[in-house]
Amino acid sequence: MSTDVKEILKSGASITDAALEVLLPGPDTAPHSIHRAMRHSTFAGGKRLRPVLCYEAARMICGHVPEGIADLGSAIEMLHTYSLIHDDLPALDNDDLRRGKPTCHVVFGEAIAILAGDALQTLAYETLSKLPIKAELAIDIVREIAIATGTGVGGTLPPGMIGGQVMDIEGEGTRPTAQQVDAIHRAKTGALITVSIVTGGIYAGAGADTVEKLRRFGQRAGLAFQIVDDVLDVTQSSEQLGKTAGKDTATDKATWPAVFGIENSIAQADELIRDAFAELEEFGPAADPLKSVAHYLVERKH
Ligand code: IPE
Ligand code: IPE
Ligand code: MG
Ligand code: MG
Ligand code: MG
Repeated sequence: MSTDVKEILKSGASITDAALEVLLPGPDTAPHSIHRAMRHSTFAGGKRLRPVLCYEAARMICGHVPEGIADLGSAIEMLHTYSLIHDDLPALDNDDLRRGKPTCHVVFGEAIAILAGDALQTLAYETLSKLPIKAELAIDIVREIAIATGTGVGGTLPPGMIGGQVMDIEGEGTRPTAQQVDAIHRAKTGALITVSIVTGGIYAGAGADTVEKLRRFGQRAGLAFQIVDDVLDVTQSSEQLGKTAGKDTATDKATWPAVFGIENSIAQADELIRDAFAELEEFGPAADPLKSVAHYLVERKH
């Protein structure tokens, strides 16, 4: 990893952690159990990649990381953490290790873990409603994020994170086609990564055409991210990942390597990132920090 991207990840994580510290209720706020559960999962050591992508998309548009954007990054991280708490529940992936710590339901019980996920979601939207930007932009951001985390209401919108989780669970034990695994990955993971980049652009004042370029960039980078997540599940140890390795094979998940093999999956993730970069050509060197983070999405080892 280059020193530049290391620095970008470190400073993006640090402004996100500082904002989350202010936004999340303290551990001694009643009812204690849920606030402690929300904090347990939020501060367990996530990479904060979605907030970092959001900030770097904004920087590319307006030349700096705009004031107050850490609240947007934090709201996205709350939604991501909620999705992880629920993903690990016995009814979904049934995992007991996350971010190097016992999962939320292992420590706090299933009922509180379900409610902690719910509460992170409501806090995320409360936070978005208070973003220090024009109301019309905040409404655009709320709509984009609700769609990206939803189910594809009425069949007129693409399925988002929850829709993807449904397809993932229902795809267990089936022999997935390339088309199915593509749909699952774009929805369960790609959509939230895409919207992190899109809303960073909106926050920084990007026009409609630019937002669509960011969307195409994000869709490719987001799919590449989940392909690599599947590859790492097979190639790394639980200790390295901070979550249970080998879980996808054990539960017969619809994964990219299951359809394409490991070598091919890595090559496709690399190609997706190269395609994604093509969307940012017009920005010249201003796109370098965002590109370096996107590159890290496929180079990472955890
Ligand atoms: C893990 O995401 C869950 C997926 C969507 C594959 P990350 O790899 O970004 O997890 P954290 O936030 O760093 O723990
Ligand atoms: C998780 O996908 C996607 C969401 C949490 C929405 P995975 O089930 O592959 O994530 P990990 O591997 O448990 O982090
Ligand atoms: Mg899962
Ligand atoms: Mg999982
Ligand atoms: Mg996984």
